Amino acid sequence: MNHTRLESCHESPLKVYKFCFVPEKLGDMVILLIRFGILVCLVASISLALHSAFSKPDRWFPLPEHIRAVQNTSVIDNRPTNISHLQFGIAGSANTWHGRSNYTKLWWDPNTTRGYVWLDKKPKILHSDILVPPYQISRGWTRFKHVHSASAVRIARIVYESFKLGLPNVRWFVMGDDDTVFFTENLVTVLGKYDHNEMYYIGGNSESVEQDVMHSYNMAFGGGGFAISYALAAQLAKIMDGCLSRYFYFYGSDQRVWACIHEIGVPLTRENGFHQFDIRGNPYGFLAAHPLVPLVSLHHLDQLSPFFPNQTQLHSMKKLISAYHIDPARIVQQSICYDHKRRWSISISWGYTIQIYTKLLIAADLQMPLQTFQTWRSWKDGPFIFNTRPMSSDPCQQPARFFLDQATKVGKSGSITIYKRHEGKEAKCNREGTNNEEVQRIRVSALKLDPEYWKNVPLSLSLPLSPHTHACTYN
Ligand SMILES: *[C@@H]1O[C@H](CO)[C@@H](O)[C@H](O)[C@H]1NC(C)=O
Ligand SMILES: *[C@@H]1O[C@H](CO)[C@@H](O)[C@H](O)[C@H]1NC(C)=O
Ligand SMILES: *[C@@H]1O[C@H](CO)[C@@H](O)[C@H](O)[C@H]1NC(C)=O
Ligand SMILES: *[C@@H]1O[C@H](CO)[C@@H](O)[C@H](O)[C@H]1NC(C)=O
Ligand SMILES: *[C@@H]1O[C@H](CO)[C@@H](O)[C@H](O)[C@H]1NC(C)=O
Repeated sequence: MNHTRLESCHESPLKVYKFCFVPEKLGDMVILLIRFGILVCLVASISLALHSAFSKPDRWFPLPEHIRAVQNTSVIDNRPTNISHLQFGIAGSANTWHGRSNYTKLWWDPNTTRGYVWLDKKPKILHSDILVPPYQISRGWTRFKHVHSASAVRIARIVYESFKLGLPNVRWFVMGDDDTVFFTENLVTVLGKYDHNEMYYIGGNSESVEQDVMHSYNMAFGGGGFAISYALAAQLAKIMDGCLSRYFYFYGSDQRVWACIHEIGVPLTRENGFHQFDIRGNPYGFLAAHPLVPLVSLHHLDQLSPFFPNQTQLHSMKKLISAYHIDPARIVQQSICYDHKRRWSISISWGYTIQIYTKLLIAADLQMPLQTFQTWRSWKDGPFIFNTRPMSSDPCQQPARFFLDQATKVGKSGSITIYKRHEGKEAKCNREGTNNEEVQRIRVSALKLDPEYWKNVPLSLSLPLSPHTHACTYN
């Protein structure tokens, strides 16, 4: 008896030698207890296995997103998120801020937006302009080891420094570059869907697959801007400096932030309205068939052709923004209609452009961007993170293009936008029956789109111009 017990003891994978030399009676009890324990473990693991097979896994292994970190539990504010709950952190540098601030001025509203542009040192030319964000000088960033640029460390730390300022009632920290243009009303709509007391890291990928492969599909690309919830910023602040030391060999600032957030275990929440715009050439095709999501940001404006022909990029942006102010939720949203009598397909990107094709094209094609641009790094024809259609060199296959000329508000909830035909230098199509030159101007009337529209999954891929009409009228 004693012998067999010893043997079984030695065979036990747990090798609990101590138990083998206890007095016999007590030893038997211990063995009984161990057997009972094993049985309980077995039953428990079987039921766990069964349970996990039939239930959602996240109930068993809650993600850290669900940890709540409320600022002050006695003052929980359940009112909806608005612009005043956002704190912006713009990455700038003393030498370039003066010239670059032209883009920031387009969206910064000193009466409502909060935050700072973070500079490496005091700028030589001081802005007396109240229309630009006030500046802060980054501190404590020079002591970090780095292989590539020191400014990447500095910029990665902006979220930490923004948090440390301790401004009241901040729900989201929004990071961006000095050439990022934010559409703040839409940004608020998007962030309003999420609970800032949970950990969220929200942004977008690069449009060029080569960039996502080189960096990460799980990274929010910094130029398109990204948002970090208060709860996540609080955790990030704790590990930031140690984390920056660990990733000294990284290249970019957004990559460092991504790596640190991944240590906390929070994945990227992708929102398709953030645009890093890692493309070269003309973004026309993309903006003419923007996905049906609110436009949140644009970037790399100086690296791209002007959005409107024969205009500077700054002027193009002003034009786009003039329509955005009239109907923020609808800007660059696509509506499609057909003129069956003339066999025309018409695609409207509200507030930007209209295309007329003198043939009937399926909606799936109209919703696929014309490839008027190349990839960011290698200037190739793809791949992108979305499908594209080639731009035909045959003028008869190309759509007639119209660009926004005027946008006016009508009453409390309507708008009229007028688009003018673009006569480029390109060859014209002279084939019989394909000419539509009689159309020079197109007038689109639409009802203001309620931001609530985005709270539910849109029912259609093409946006109706008003709830009751799906037809386009033109003159
Ligand atoms: C929370 O807010 C209340 C009301 O503003 C204040 O009295 C209290 O001191 C705050 N508590 C902490 C821990 O900050
Ligand atoms: C934003 O919401 C807060 C309440 O959380 C409110 O006090 C404030 O007036 C609102 N600000 C704007 C600009 O709507
Ligand atoms: C920004 O505006 C200033 C004058 O206000 C001008 O000198 C500068 O060239 C502009 N920069 C860009 C990028 O348009
Ligand atoms: C800010 O508010 C003040 C007072 O309401 C107003 O006079 C000013 O025009 C506003 N500024 C902007 C840029 O909207
Ligand atoms: C381009 O703009 C200039 C100056 O605004 C204007 O004189 C010219 O006619 C425009 N060209 C075309 C093709 O629209």
